[in-house]
Amino acid sequence: ALITLRQLLDHGAEYGYGVPAFNINNMEQGIAIMKAAEAVDAPVILQASRGARSYAGDIMLRHMVQALAEMFPNNPICMHQDHGNNEQTCLSAIGHGFTSVMMDGSLEADMKTPASYEYNVDITQRVSQMAHWVGASVEGELGVLGSLETGEAAEEDGSGAVGKLSMEDLLTDPDQAADFVATTKVDALAIACGTSHGAYKFSRKPDGEILAMTRIAEIHKRIPTVHLVMHGSSSVPQSLQDMINEFGGEMPQTYGVPVEEIEKGIKSGVRKVNIDTDCRMAMTAQFRKVATQNPKEFDPRKFLIPAMQEMEDLCRDRFERFGTAGNA
Ligand code: G3H
Ligand code: 13P
Ligand code: NA
Ligand code: ZN
Repeated sequence: ALITLRQLLDHGAEYGYGVPAFNINNMEQGIAIMKAAEAVDAPVILQASRGARSYAGDIMLRHMVQALAEMFPNNPICMHQDHGNNEQTCLSAIGHGFTSVMMDGSLEADMKTPASYEYNVDITQRVSQMAHWVGASVEGELGVLGSLETGEAAEEDGSGAVGKLSMEDLLTDPDQAADFVATTKVDALAIACGTSHGAYKFSRKPDGEILAMTRIAEIHKRIPTVHLVMHGSSSVPQSLQDMINEFGGEMPQTYGVPVEEIEKGIKSGVRKVNIDTDCRMAMTAQFRKVATQNPKEFDPRKFLIPAMQEMEDLCRDRFERFGTAGNA
């Protein structure tokens, strides 16, 4: 059955667990996530970016999610719009059956220009009111994702830097967070603590200098009933980097967010943990392996079956380590 983000994360807060929010673009990713959830009895957040909606199409996505709910009746599903950029994106998602939307007003509608606080409050407040009228949940974002190593704000999709920002803009301010949620009434708040989207987050294993996990507890103390969200939470596993490069890939060495840091974050109040890059890498590692080891192969299923299995294993690990397992 479909449930809202508020319903799911309230349960997570009560029992002290976090929920991975996996991005979905196609049937194979959907099945991989749901099989993992079924195996460990976990509730699920599926999220679709604007790019996913144009890739698969809104009608396909709507029916895919309905099909997954029907195939896996024991795993509650929250269907969430990832990084909505304006009112239209958020409201049309709800019209297509999404039970939750993110209004990301930390950037302007182009998703490149860091927005003013006033712009963010205004647009998020409006989306929040409209979504709540029809029973959907809302996630806002305060603070711009980007690198504390370079001081660069990052483009929403991880494709590159969009400009220099001060350290303070790259970290969510707890006092401002309190003001933001009082006005916007969001159910969940994405915070900035040094993570960024995509595979190239850190040039070394992150420490407290470049990944400010202590900020999370400070924010949680100020807004204990609003569920905190960590974007850019892929761990970029070394084993997947190695597999991709062993089979012809050329990914430069990089570091993600260690899973143990996310576990600390969950203890400090993080409830939703956004993961896309790790799932992409899991599938691509297997595509490359099959293509290299079996160059005569041309049946897509022979690529997709191991790719789904690799992604399922990764999702299952996150459900287990975040404490989501056993809570369906
Ligand atoms: O926020 C970024 C997510 O990884 C979605 O990426 O816009 O390429 O679908 P995408
Ligand atoms: P990753 O690129 O770290 O997987 O982050 C995904 C994300 O935050 C989607 O909103
Ligand atoms: Na989101
Ligand atoms: Zn994100």
